Amino acid sequence: MDRLNGSARLMIVSDLDCTMVDHDDPGNLSLLRFNALWEAYYRHDSLLVFSTGRSLTSYKRLRRRKPLLTPDIVITSVGTEIAYGESMVTDNFWKECLEHKWDRDMVTEETAKFPELIPQSETAQRPRKVSFFVEPDKAVAVMEVLSERLEKRGLNVKLIYSSGTALDVLPEGAGKGQALAYLLEKFKADGKIPINVLVCGDSGNDADLFTIPEAYGVMVSNAKEELLQWHEENLKDNPNIIHATERCGAGIIEAIGKFSLGPSLSPRDITDIWKSERENLNPGHEVVNFYLFYERWRRAEVEKSEQYIQNLKSVCHPSAAFVHPSGIERHMHQCIDIMSTFHGDKQGKQYYIWVDRISSAPIGSDTWLLKFDKWEICGEERRCCLATLLVSSMGNSPGRFTWLHMQQTWLDCSIAEDQTTGIF
Ligand code: GLC
Ligand code: MG
Repeated sequence: MDRLNGSARLMIVSDLDCTMVDHDDPGNLSLLRFNALWEAYYRHDSLLVFSTGRSLTSYKRLRRRKPLLTPDIVITSVGTEIAYGESMVTDNFWKECLEHKWDRDMVTEETAKFPELIPQSETAQRPRKVSFFVEPDKAVAVMEVLSERLEKRGLNVKLIYSSGTALDVLPEGAGKGQALAYLLEKFKADGKIPINVLVCGDSGNDADLFTIPEAYGVMVSNAKEELLQWHEENLKDNPNIIHATERCGAGIIEAIGKFSLGPSLSPRDITDIWKSERENLNPGHEVVNFYLFYERWRRAEVEKSEQYIQNLKSVCHPSAAFVHPSGIERHMHQCIDIMSTFHGDKQGKQYYIWVDRISSAPIGSDTWLLKFDKWEICGEERRCCLATLLVSSMGNSPGRFTWLHMQQTWLDCSIAEDQTTGIF
């Protein structure tokens, strides 16, 4: 929460399955387009929040399979749990808030009386979320009777039906919308109300998000009928909510443009990044562009031209060094020559690079230290480096940078088991 000094320029609160993540897009292209846009233009002054029906465990599983960026906040189990930052610190106070008129044992006792309710897996069940599958033609009747019975027992619950199959029983104060309202209150108390908020969703459990009055909203083109119908009945005339014409991540980008919330042209949609606007880039944007070029070079999607190689060399200081994760150190100019021989080695392959968590800190009047994770995926194989990069501004070309030094380290989860990693 404290990563930004002031108010976020944009706070995106997005559902994951079938909103940020398109399970029908094996190359994850729309997600990669969103990622490039976010890291190039928004990471440094905006907030990314994921709000999912999944439990934290199941969310982590999804992250291992899909190229998801690291969010600032993650809201899991349909707004019943909130965790902050990269180390995912749980908000225990939020959990306590949800205890009011909630008794999990009573809920399971009452729901067990309905043979139509098929319990979901153990991992989907949480202290403040009891979840089932139920056929669409039975859902309305079951929900009506169940909510009466729970009310009679003195409970205050919320029933949410999603994707024509999932029924969640939650404390009344829970849900994705309430969790967001709680976060916005916290920002307000800190004097850091986000300038713009955009909520994004596709199914029943997202409806709640669209009830936040100060937020813009996008229902992606592939939104489920239940959400579209709910919107038709409740918020039809709200001009700040759109049904995108594009699917998933592309629909989110579309909404950023439609509501003029900031840049909405993903660097991935620019064919020739060297010819594109090169004025006033922030240093993070430069890194996004570099790796896009690198990916296209290796996939032979840019021609093998000496001019490109010269362009690259012109942004690296002649004595700049690159320390490869293996520990081998070379001059950057030499690395560029080596890279030039790899033109097309990944041609026709599902080979993508994305950068995550870009941050840059000024360490002098014209020098910045950048840090980022560089992810590389080739088919099923995935690997990640933690990179640090030192750049200085080119005196005669504002918004352009000279690369001075880069060092990369493999990020290997098994190493985290080593007890000495916390010390120098
Ligand atoms: C996710 C959760 C599931 C929940 C559904 C709808 O799929 O895993 O437990 O019922 O979202 O909220
Ligand atoms: Mg969804």
